[in-house]
Amino acid sequence: MAEPDELLDAALEVRARAYAPYSKFAVGAAIRTPSGAIYAGCNVENASYPEGSCAETSAIAVMVAAGERVITEVVVCAESDAPITPCGGCRQRLAEFGRVDTVVRAAGSRGERARWTLGELLPAAFALKTPE
Ligand code: THU
Repeated sequence: MAEPDELLDAALEVRARAYAPYSKFAVGAAIRTPSGAIYAGCNVENASYPEGSCAETSAIAVMVAAGERVITEVVVCAESDAPITPCGGCRQRLAEFGRVDTVVRAAGSRGERARWTLGELLPAAFALKTPE
């Protein structure tokens, strides 16, 4: 039997609530923080296409609203079984709160398909300074 994977379950659950009427491509993301808490978000599209939010961006907003600022692990799952990698903008957003060794996992409906560190996905990330 497969190991329980709470982070993946949270990403799959929130993906079902994605608002993606334009792309028809639902995405869910779930973030784990050092406290062990999990924060989930889905993509939220808009008729003015560039105004839509990615799932990772939504999950980050939920995490920050809850008072947390450090990401230790992320799972992203697309609607298809094929894994997706976080888009460039979301890599930068994840880097704001993650570390080079933050684990980023990509999943399809049948479970994990790929994993990287944030340092691998965004080497030499832009940063002004380390925020408190
Ligand atoms: N999308 C995400 O939510 N996360 C990604 O990392 C890549 C793309 C969303 C944005 C848009 O709503 C849909 O997938 C198609 O691009």
